[in-house]
Amino acid sequence: MIKTKQILDEKDKRLRQKSHDVTFPLDQRYINFINDSIEMLTLSQIDEEAKKYNLRPGMGLSAIQIGINKRIFVIVLEIEEGKFENYIFINPKIISHSEELIYVDGGEGCLSINRETEGIVPRYARLNVEFYDMDGNKKTLRLREELSVAFQHEYDHLNGILFIDRIDKNDPYKNANLMRAI
Ligand code: NI
Repeated sequence: MIKTKQILDEKDKRLRQKSHDVTFPLDQRYINFINDSIEMLTLSQIDEEAKKYNLRPGMGLSAIQIGINKRIFVIVLEIEEGKFENYIFINPKIISHSEELIYVDGGEGCLSINRETEGIVPRYARLNVEFYDMDGNKKTLRLREELSVAFQHEYDHLNGILFIDRIDKNDPYKNANLMRAI
């Protein structure tokens, strides 16, 4: 399992690097990152387990957040109480996106940002994405709502961007009236 202390803090410059494409077959290190992240993200969303392992709740983690500068991230989405879906994205690309913008009401969070933040992060409501699975097969997927936001948040990590960069410094709620809150 990924431990809290392994996760880089926003002050760490490594989070600002652009991550590189991965080649197949996947190195064991990357397979471990994927499996360990799924375990941590799942437990972090179960109250008792989160307490036990001292985990902050999170639904996504990019490899660069533990210092691996490869284009890999994992999302664990709770679809109903205690039931989770795992998504593994390797060398992902955004093929197209909706015009409609949404934002997470109450703001986004990030396991690398250990402080309160204020403001909204504009995200596309829907995406068509392309990526590789762990066996090196090319896949496409249409993502909506929370999953679309999570993808864009993690995709930003691969390019050295943090969600706080997307909040307007002078007007943290700028254009909120033009977007839909989720
Ligand atoms: Ni993050």
